[in-house]
Amino acid sequence: MSCRRGALIVLEGVDRAGKTTQCQKLVHALQQSGRAAEMMRFPDRTTKIGQLISSYLEKKSNLEDHTVHLLFSANRWEMVPLMKQKLEQGINLVVDRYAFSGVAFTSAKPGFSLEWCMNPDIGLPKPDLVMFLQLNPNMAADRGEYGIERYETSAFQRTVHQRFEELMQDSSVNWKVIDAARTIEEVHKDIKLLSECIISLAENQPVGELWS
Ligand code: TMP
Repeated sequence: MSCRRGALIVLEGVDRAGKTTQCQKLVHALQQSGRAAEMMRFPDRTTKIGQLISSYLEKKSNLEDHTVHLLFSANRWEMVPLMKQKLEQGINLVVDRYAFSGVAFTSAKPGFSLEWCMNPDIGLPKPDLVMFLQLNPNMAADRGEYGIERYETSAFQRTVHQRFEELMQDSSVNWKVIDAARTIEEVHKDIKLLSECIISLAENQPVGELWS
């Protein structure tokens, strides 16, 4: 008998919403409760494609807007065999950003439709759960200065937030909105509960395909 598969759990949100902290806490909590869990993040800056993206984000190089969008997508696709392998082995994957960030950030640039942006990511492993850490961009800005990377300005982040709101209208994706304005522990409690439920539900179902 094949083992139960792991769940694909994604955390999304604007910058400073606490995604990375919450991903780490979730992986730790799942492991503590005896479940196999690992964290992944996109962009994965360790691969050759990831290094091109990283240099672009650090403003050390410039890339044409369509080109960098496709590189972000390729950076997800290159990890798909590994993701599928881990899920099949029963490992729960907790992912810091996914295709939704890809679409929200590029479509915040002038001249990019949501539809065009979604296309290259159609067919990726579909997350069983996408938790959106909801934080008003003004509150996010109050959490301290934005960094120096590309996209880290209040005006751009406000547009990104609007694009996420549009993406969340899509009922084919299992979105859950989490109020990220609370304490780290309060937010973690909700995330852990939702994740435990989805892990039980997903284990007997095949992995789906995103947006297809
Ligand atoms: P992070 O490594 O701090 O999460 O930042 C990555 C930046 O790249 C962040 O500003 C969001 C942006 N991004 C995209 O523009 N497209 C994508 O597909 C992803 C995953 C992130």
